[in-house]
Amino acid sequence: MKIKARVFEFFNTGIGWRITALLVDMRFLGWKLIHPKASFSDFYAESIASMLRRGGSHKTLGDKKFLSRSLSTPSMHMNPLEYQARGTEYFDLAIKYGLKPYHTCVDYGCGSLRVGQHFIGYLQSEKYLGLDIVSDFYEIGKALIPAPIFKEKKPRFSTINPTTIKIVLLQQPDFVFSFAVLKHVPPRELDAFFNRIVNMMSPHTQVVITFNQAEQTIRAGAKIWDFCEKDIFSSIYKQCEGLDCSIVPFGTDKTLPRVAVLLIRKQSIQE
Ligand SMILES: C[S@@+](CC[C@H](N)C(=O)[O-])C[C@H]1O[C@@H](n2cnc3c(N)ncnc32)[C@H](O)[C@@H]1O
Repeated sequence: MKIKARVFEFFNTGIGWRITALLVDMRFLGWKLIHPKASFSDFYAESIASMLRRGGSHKTLGDKKFLSRSLSTPSMHMNPLEYQARGTEYFDLAIKYGLKPYHTCVDYGCGSLRVGQHFIGYLQSEKYLGLDIVSDFYEIGKALIPAPIFKEKKPRFSTINPTTIKIVLLQQPDFVFSFAVLKHVPPRELDAFFNRIVNMMSPHTQVVITFNQAEQTIRAGAKIWDFCEKDIFSSIYKQCEGLDCSIVPFGTDKTLPRVAVLLIRKQSIQE
């Protein structure tokens, strides 16, 4: 287990992550030969889904404890209490920005419902909509939610495609949350990401997105990018003018790079 943690540390920090990035880019190019229309985001989701199917673990996705596999044993499952303890800081953020039980809420890039489980417990029936690129992650999360809660709250799930975005818009969501997703979107796919976000917005929709903010947009890991404010805003305004956008720190850290919260609203609802 310690060896695995050390190997992970090496390939995800310092000079090691650049080796990983090179390998990831090469694998992506190979994958593109078979999936010419697919994006890096598709590759990101599919490669993690396939690793989970093979019994692997991930920091935030799936139902296994991260790095809980030695070289010869399978990964260990999280117990329900461990699962329930995850994602609470993001749920608190949603409450801080005004989420109420009667709101219709989109969890964009919901993954394995690390945060979604708290939304589902809190929101009224049929008010939670979890979206992701592949269904694998939320199918794992669904199985971890207690059956009576699932039956009562009737959360809805869908994979992301142009039709889903149109259907979401018809629901006139009060909130679109996207937590720990944007940091995995490469700069060349920023416009496509914000296009989908903006196309789900009704006049009253509030969008709350967490991301890694830096002075300059930069690749910070093999599958991680930090974004500067200018690039974020210019991508959003390309999708739709007249939006009210702001960025605030997630925690108390005032210096960059830091985890930040991006807020988007239509100007018509400015107070
Ligand atoms: C680190 S996980 C976070 C999942 C969840 N939001 C959470 O906080 O636990 C990132 C998720 O974003 C999804 N994702 C990656 N790129 C995306 C994109 N361009 N649009 C929507 N979802 C994306 C992945 O499939 C994955 O489920």
